[in-house]
Amino acid sequence: MKIDVIRKLPEVLDTIFVLHHEDGDISKVEFLPGKIVSMLTRVLNAESFTFKAGEIKSIYYSDPETHSRIFLIGVGKPEKLSASSLRTTFANAIRQALKQKSKTIYVFTGFDVPLTDVIYGHVISEAALMASYKFDRYLPQENKHHIECVHLVIDTKNTRHINRGILEGRLYTEANFIARNLVNEPANVLNPEYLAEQAKKTALHYGLSIEVHALDKIRRLKMEAFLAVARGSVHEPRLIVMRYNGTNDHKSPVIGLIGKGLTYDSGGYCIKTPQGMLTMKDDMSGAAAVIGVMSAIANLKLKVNVTAVIAACENMISGEAYRPGDIIRAMNGKTIEVINTDAEGRLTLIDAINYAIEKENIAKIIDIATLTGAAAAAVGPDYSVLISNDKAWSKQLIEAGEATGELVWQLPARDEYKEMLKSEIADLKNTGGPWGGAITAGLFIREFVENKPWMHIDIAGSAYREKEGGIYSFGATGVGVRMLIQLFRCMED
Ligand code: BES
Ligand code: MN
Ligand code: ZN
Repeated sequence: MKIDVIRKLPEVLDTIFVLHHEDGDISKVEFLPGKIVSMLTRVLNAESFTFKAGEIKSIYYSDPETHSRIFLIGVGKPEKLSASSLRTTFANAIRQALKQKSKTIYVFTGFDVPLTDVIYGHVISEAALMASYKFDRYLPQENKHHIECVHLVIDTKNTRHINRGILEGRLYTEANFIARNLVNEPANVLNPEYLAEQAKKTALHYGLSIEVHALDKIRRLKMEAFLAVARGSVHEPRLIVMRYNGTNDHKSPVIGLIGKGLTYDSGGYCIKTPQGMLTMKDDMSGAAAVIGVMSAIANLKLKVNVTAVIAACENMISGEAYRPGDIIRAMNGKTIEVINTDAEGRLTLIDAINYAIEKENIAKIIDIATLTGAAAAAVGPDYSVLISNDKAWSKQLIEAGEATGELVWQLPARDEYKEMLKSEIADLKNTGGPWGGAITAGLFIREFVENKPWMHIDIAGSAYREKEGGIYSFGATGVGVRMLIQLFRCMED
């Protein structure tokens, strides 16, 4: 999809977007052809359309020379317009245009957008590209419709900032698509080995260094919590390590980025219901986000050092699978009583975190995981849950979430709840009982971060959608990618 800024219009306009604020005057929209203006004025006199936020109206215009599909797009009150609301509204308009088989879209903006040119360009290109995503590898090739061009019709010679924004939007989207494509790939195709292969391809393409460890090495590392989860599957686990060094200074601190990489989660012997299992190919959404983020920070050449660690495996049932009641010893020596084999993610994460601390010398930790149904129940699909031991850093992430529309809601890391993880026969239990499940999962992980600055992002509710809308299509959302790119941009030194 081509996205650019133009000042000269061709004779025939295929599709027209008119963005305007509440009660906006259509006759003052710059560049909008006169006959379109008079037609729209007639329509707006006859019907009530007031450009309320998110409202979209589609009109077909035809005379002997022209046939145009026009979309009136309301942005509400300009003072209430945010990057996020514009992104969603524009994405919904793109969805409608796609359904009408639009090929070329001319965007007319009837008001002064209260965003910088960079942000405006970023939001528009991101919305257009994100909304056009569809996981269609397994669908017939014929009749696939694409929007070819989006032209922003703007009266300015200085398009530098807006074009930079458009490019930024492209880069963020490209990284988001890497994550979405990985998550949408079903588990019969995407197993740990396949995920590692894809990570290698991505690393090669973006110039990241990568190491993949197989079963032997994982055993030698004594990652027994990770291995316990992996044991029930015929697919062997992989430990994926990707490194990006963006500061020339090799002494500057490395951030560890840990992604949950369960290529499938059946629940193990504490088996899920068929309904609960149906979308569990998405249990590697954290890993997919991490791979997407790594590609983007390399692409943007950010001045940060990040090492990504993914413990990829599959939680299945077999004669070798781990059981409720087992006691396992994590890589760092702590013992864990397995209460529930479906609380497997935290077991893989703690060994990945310990590996990052012991072998990769990381100074700060971010983990991202589809960890608990409780997180999804607490905040629903529009938020990811954050649990952290670092206030200032959390604030940065929450702001990055607001800027990108990947919203984050912090839950307390309440010390007192550690009680719930106490075991009579081991250092810890792997579940904390029925209440505050997203928090106790976070507290469990906190026991392994050795007091380093740490943020835990639970994307169980936000990683996958059963319904399209705004920038999200059916299936994976790729959530985490854009917020973390934004965070790393704020952390550049
Ligand atoms: N992968 C699931 C969490 C999940 C649930 C992700 C729904 C996406 C949608 C995780 O491994 C899990 O099963 N968690 C359990 C933990 C419980 C046994 C303490 C859960 O949330 O039920
Ligand atoms: Mn599980
Ligand atoms: Zn899981």
